[in-house]
Amino acid sequence: MNRAKIAKLVIACVVVFALIQLIPASRTNPPVVASRSLAAHMDVPPQVQNIFKRACSDCHSNETVWPWYSHVAPVSWYVAHDVNVGRSHVNLDNWEAQESPKEANEHLGLTCKLMQQGKMPPSDFLLMHKDARVSPADINTVCAWTQKVAPDEEEGGGADHHDHHEHDDHPEKD
Ligand code: HEC
Repeated sequence: MNRAKIAKLVIACVVVFALIQLIPASRTNPPVVASRSLAAHMDVPPQVQNIFKRACSDCHSNETVWPWYSHVAPVSWYVAHDVNVGRSHVNLDNWEAQESPKEANEHLGLTCKLMQQGKMPPSDFLLMHKDARVSPADINTVCAWTQKVAPDEEEGGGADHHDHHEHDDHPEKD
């Protein structure tokens, strides 16, 4: 490739990059209704609350702090998608969104389990959020609490119990 061709290619890339900025990402922070939150439904000790706030709330609450790169396409699409999917599973500001007390309990069990397995917070998130790392002590704090409020979910050690989330067996509405 000669220089003129390389220059054209670079310009084309810049133009494409500029144009994709016009495709918005769905970054929202829905209003927080205190009465719908996890803390309104059960006692959450301040230490646990702090760990959630520090390590989970960017994806599992309505109070997401959107980092600068969440404003730059194409990363913005990925980040917004992650947050929206995270919220749709568990939203600490909208604990009532869960289908049933059983599902809420399952999520409490999973909260401990996924932290123990090092799956939450996700490792790609930790690359950019070092302060969201959780220590073994943090995990113990959370697990001691979930075992207290959702004891059934911790028993039996059913390893494959949660691989598949039971979203497909709920009855059709209407
Ligand atoms: C970068 C965003 C992000 C962060 C930070 C994050 N999560 Fe998640 N979380 C997700 C996404 C996306 C899903 C749904 C898909 C999946 O399982 O990967 C999820 C799913 C979950 C689920 C539900 C799993 C299921 O099967 O329904 C639990 C429980 C959970 N996360 C707990 C946590 C906890 C606890 C923290 C903090 C210690 C945390 N997450 C931090 C993105 C995040």
